[in-house]
Amino acid sequence: MTHAVCPGSFDPPTLGHLDVIGRAAGLFDRLTVAILVNPDKKGMFEIEERLELLSATTAQWPNVSVDSFHGLLVDYCAATGISAIVKGLRAVSDFDYELQMAQMNHGLTGVDTLFMPTSPTYSFVSSSLVKQVARYGGNVGHLLPGVVATALAGKLAAR
Ligand code: PNS
Repeated sequence: MTHAVCPGSFDPPTLGHLDVIGRAAGLFDRLTVAILVNPDKKGMFEIEERLELLSATTAQWPNVSVDSFHGLLVDYCAATGISAIVKGLRAVSDFDYELQMAQMNHGLTGVDTLFMPTSPTYSFVSSSLVKQVARYGGNVGHLLPGVVATALAGKLAAR
C-alpha cells in the first residue's frame, strides 16, 4: 500500500492545490492532505475551516483524506506510515527552497519527496496572492473551488 502526503498551509486551498492533489491521488493507493498547524503564523482561515474546505473539495477522490499536524513533517510521516511527500512546483523559483527541504527531510528520516509540476493554468496562483487580490476587490473566483470562493467572500465581508 503506497501512502503519500501533500503538506501545506492551504490558507485557503486553491485550484492549483487541487490540481496537484488530484494528480497525486492517481499515483498512490492513499494520499493524505496535511495542514501544518503553525503557532507562529495566524492564517485567515482557522485550521478547522481549512480541514472542512479540503474535505469538501477532495471528496471526489475516495483515496484522499485530510488531516493536520504539528511539528516536523518527517515526524508526521513516520507516525502515520507515509513514505513519500508530494510537492507541487509552480516555477523554477519554487525549486531552490523545495530542494533544500527535500534534502533536509531525506537526511532526517530517509523520506523521499517527489516534485510535481503544476498545470501552467495555475502556475501563478498562490494562496497569499489570491487573498491579497480578493482583499482589494479583485476577482479570484476562477482560481478557487466554489466553496472556497464563497468562504473567502464571507471572511472579507465580515471584516
Ligand atoms: O503551503 P506552504 O506554507 O508552502 O507549506 C510549507 C510546509 C508546511 C510544507 C513546510 O513548511 C513544512 O513541511 N513544515 C513543517 C515543519 C518542518 O518539517 N520543517 C522542516 C522542513 S525541512
